[in-house]
Amino acid sequence: MKCLVHFVSLLSSAAVVIHGLPTDNPDLVSRQTNPLNPFLSIITNLAPVNLLVDGAAGDLTNLEGLLVPIVGGTNQTDLATGKPCAQITIIFARGTTEPGNMGVFAGPQLVQAVKNALPGASINVQGVEYAASIQGYLAGGGSDGTMSMSNFINQALQACPQTKIVMSGYSQGGQVVHNTAKALDANTMAKINSVVIFGDPQSQTPVTGAQGKTLIICHPDDNICSDGDLILPAHLTYGFNSPQAGEFVGKMANGTTVGRK
Ligand SMILES: *[C@@H]1O[C@H](CO)[C@@H](O)[C@H](O)[C@H]1NC(C)=O
Ligand SMILES: *[C@@H]1O[C@H](CO)[C@@H](O)[C@H](O)[C@H]1NC(C)=O
Repeated sequence: MKCLVHFVSLLSSAAVVIHGLPTDNPDLVSRQTNPLNPFLSIITNLAPVNLLVDGAAGDLTNLEGLLVPIVGGTNQTDLATGKPCAQITIIFARGTTEPGNMGVFAGPQLVQAVKNALPGASINVQGVEYAASIQGYLAGGGSDGTMSMSNFINQALQACPQTKIVMSGYSQGGQVVHNTAKALDANTMAKINSVVIFGDPQSQTPVTGAQGKTLIICHPDDNICSDGDLILPAHLTYGFNSPQAGEFVGKMANGTTVGRK
């Protein structure tokens, strides 16, 4: 049942968090200059609580407030403001209660990673405009998110038929990606260049119409990925997976063959 969101033991030391990280990329954790290090230390220093959904939302909001100035880029509106066409268009749906339209846990890191993987490419970024409410999560993804993501995809394809669209989301944003892929017609989905989901509550379900171009990243001990109701540190650390995601998006955009996922 999903009516409780326990916010379990975030204090329980960095070891727990690092346990949830992929070990095949140790330099991500050790590099002192990595901007993700203050991000990790804030997550690991948050006091533990075990609360009903409203209380957990309050604590998440506090944590997110601390992270906003560190990660930056929590609001991205390139499509809404009608920026000229870019080679790449990233449309990203944030997780429940996250600030801005990109959030702090995965969206800004994905954008930076795509920039790194495609040096010199022009990139437009648009956050999905939706409430990202707890009710939306419990309903399997806010329908306002599906509406917004569908509209932005259609807008981008119409205005910029050559742009390579990246559909992405984190947590409830993953539900939004799944729901949008179901709502769009097959012809539109065929034009999407790549799909990336972090901490996907529907990780066992393929994204409709996106076979061979989808990357779903779930930490083994992320309870949300197994349709659970616990928000564990492993659910809050997908920023560390951004290089893998950026590489995937970059390869798809370059037309490089990428193994199926
Ligand atoms: C995002 O932009 C909106 C509208 O301009 C603003 O109200 C909000 O404070 C911004 N949020 C963040 C986290 O920067
Ligand atoms: C994509 O192609 C560009 C230009 O050749 C190259 O610089 C970049 O490394 C490639 N990125 C990936 C992820 O393959």
